[in-house]
Amino acid sequence: MRRNKITVVGAGNVGATAAHWCVAKELGDVVLIDVVEGIPQGKALDLMQSNPLDGIDSWVKGTNSYEDTADSDVCIITAGIARKPGMSRDDLLNTNFKIVSTCAESFARYSPNAIIIVVSNPLDIMTYAAWKASGFPSNRVFGQAGVLDAARFRTFVALELGCSFEDVNALVLGGHGDTMVSVLSHANVGCIPITKLISPERLAEIVKRTAHGGAEIVDFLKTGSAYYAPSAACVLMAEAVLKDKKRIMPVAAYLNGEYGAKDLYTGVPAIIGGSGVEKVLEIDLTPDEKAGLDRSIQAVRDLMKVVGLA
Ligand code: 2OP
Repeated sequence: MRRNKITVVGAGNVGATAAHWCVAKELGDVVLIDVVEGIPQGKALDLMQSNPLDGIDSWVKGTNSYEDTADSDVCIITAGIARKPGMSRDDLLNTNFKIVSTCAESFARYSPNAIIIVVSNPLDIMTYAAWKASGFPSNRVFGQAGVLDAARFRTFVALELGCSFEDVNALVLGGHGDTMVSVLSHANVGCIPITKLISPERLAEIVKRTAHGGAEIVDFLKTGSAYYAPSAACVLMAEAVLKDKKRIMPVAAYLNGEYGAKDLYTGVPAIIGGSGVEKVLEIDLTPDEKAGLDRSIQAVRDLMKVVGLA
C-alpha cells in the first residue's frame, strides 16, 4: 500500500496554494517543483510543518529536480508567468508555451502513467501543449478552467440571491478567456431554473462579470493574478481523479468531433475519474449558446495557430 503522490509544478501563488489544498484534504504526498532554487524547498517545509497542528499525514517535498517527481499519480501544472493589469491571458502565450511544454515533457519521463491537470494560461492552448509534450493519451491530460469560471458565476449568483453557494449549479464552457460561455439554459439554484429567480438584465451583468472574473482580481492585486479559487478548482479535479469519483465537471478536454470541434482542447462538461476524462458529455445548447461556443472555439484555434499548433 502506498499513498497517492501529487506533483505540483510551479511554486508561485497558484502552485503553493494548490499544494496547501492537497495537504489540507490529505489527498496524498506532495512534491512541489520549481526552477527557482530555495522557493519550493522553503514553502514545502513550511507547509509540512503545519501537519502536526492539523493532524495530517502528507509528506511534502520541495525540489528543483524532476527525479523527485517519479511515479506520481497526478501532476498539476501551474508554471509560467501570470498576468499584470491590462494584460489578457493570451498575452502570456509564447513565454508559457515553452515553459509548459518543457515541464510536461520532463514530468512525463518520470511518471509515464500519471494524469496531468493544466492551470497555466492561456489555458486551452497550454493544455494542448502539455498533451503534445507529454506524449500521453488525451484522456490523461486536461485543463482547469470551467470549474473556476463556474465557481465565479456561482459565487455572484449566491451573492445576488443571498443563498448558499453550494445550491447554485452552473456550467461555463468554451475557452478560458473573454469568449467563455455561461450556460444559462442549464443553470439552476436548488433545482429552480436560474431564469425564474434573476432578471435577464441582472443575469447579463453576472455573465459579464464571470467572463472578466480573473481580470477583476488582477486589477485589484496589480502584481499577479487570482490563486485561492484557481488552486481550489484544480485540486477538486485532482481529487476526482485520485478518488475515482466520476464527477461531472466543465474541464478543458480534448475534442475529437464533439461540439463540432476536432483536435483542440476547450471547456466542455465531462466525467472525471481515475482515468482522467472518462467521457465528454454533449448537451443541448440554445442557438445563442451554441454560437457563443463556436466563437470561443474559433478564438482557441486562432491562438493555437500563433504557436504552430493548428
Ligand atoms: C484566473 O482566471 C488565473 O486563469 C486564472 O484567475
